[in-house]
Amino acid sequence: MVDVVLGLQWGDEGKGKIVDVLTPQYDVVARFQGGPNAGHSLEFGGNKYVLNTIPSGIFHEHCTNIIGNGVVIDPVQLKKEIEKASATGVDIKKSLYISQKAHLILPTHRLVDAASEAKKGEHKVGSTLRGISPTYQDKIGRSGLRVGDILTDGFATKYRNATNIHCELLNSLNFEYNLADHEPAFFEAVEFLKQFKIINSEYFVNDLIKSGKKILAEGAQGTLLDIDFGSYPFVTSSNTITGGACSGLGISPQHIQKVYGIFKAYCTRVGNGPFPTEQENETGEMLRKLGHEFGATTGRPRRTGWLDLPTLKYAIMLNGVTDLICTKSDVLSGFEEVLVCDRYKIEGAETSELPYSMQDVKLEPLYRSFPGWTGDLSKIKTYNELPETFRNYMDYVQSQIEVPVNVISVGPDREETIIR
Ligand code: IMP
Repeated sequence: MVDVVLGLQWGDEGKGKIVDVLTPQYDVVARFQGGPNAGHSLEFGGNKYVLNTIPSGIFHEHCTNIIGNGVVIDPVQLKKEIEKASATGVDIKKSLYISQKAHLILPTHRLVDAASEAKKGEHKVGSTLRGISPTYQDKIGRSGLRVGDILTDGFATKYRNATNIHCELLNSLNFEYNLADHEPAFFEAVEFLKQFKIINSEYFVNDLIKSGKKILAEGAQGTLLDIDFGSYPFVTSSNTITGGACSGLGISPQHIQKVYGIFKAYCTRVGNGPFPTEQENETGEMLRKLGHEFGATTGRPRRTGWLDLPTLKYAIMLNGVTDLICTKSDVLSGFEEVLVCDRYKIEGAETSELPYSMQDVKLEPLYRSFPGWTGDLSKIKTYNELPETFRNYMDYVQSQIEVPVNVISVGPDREETIIR
């Protein structure tokens, strides 16, 4: 059987920690989309680790970790990540499996990402500049290079043909670059990757399912960044929803059982695009400060705002969420009042549905206010020990979303987790 864990907002919901907490129940953790634009933070034993491409089960010895075909891999970045994780004593050669059908991020993809964002000027998406969009464009355009290609004799030629096209584009955009600066590290990383298990992952995953293993499919980014259903064009370039786990791992929907949806007790967004409940004021500043809301991958300050129920309900619907997990509840401690947006006013009419395009309509979030709470929640172990004001807030959220909130995370450490 396969369970899926994914984000219900604009990413950064705390997926890394939750996967790490859930992993003891699973034999396998498999990433199904995205690439090193992700930054999954894990904390245990007083140390913090950030994973970009490697699945978050890597620090559990029993766990098999798969990078699925739906992921895009930057060999240079993955090499660095493997070296860092190996330094903690993890045997990556034993536990990491890489799909031969995962697409490769070439140095020129990163350059094209930078050039096209620069060209868009104030309309830029605010990409992480990791080459994600150009790599997925080549995949869909049927001209991408895949991990399996590095094991073939013609790899150098395929690489040169692909990069020549990218260079033509870069030249036409008058973008200054020197490819020679990037290529030695790229080819060194490609050689490095050859020592790992590069496999036909769809057979591998389905054999694991047949033999009764429990698989956790790990999503990256969040539902509101999904290429089809997110706030287009301010999205990433892959399907971040449950459906992405099927195409990104080669599994049938029939195998999916639980879908864990993760949401933060408030909202954040990095990069540009609509954010109805954004607080560009002292409240937003306080959320950013208390929640350490700075990108795990890029270090950029995250935009912050109140919890938005219309988007949360939309994400629950698209993903078929069975279990909700609320993270960073501790961050709201100390606010005099806590707001939740439960509907919008769009062009004068109230609704709880998302419009076709949030950025092109006059959208006003309508809030319900709750008295805040104080004190350190991080050592609390049961729901009933939480302050009554917190429970009033959470019970209201629960009543609106009709799916049980089974886990409440009250701090970054594995231990700081309340299971209901
Ligand atoms: P890209 O995926 O790097 O092309 O970025 C597209 C948009 O998605 C930008 O607004 C990024 O800030 C955002 N984004 C991409 N990956 C993540 C993530 O892992 N967490 C949060 N936002 C992300």
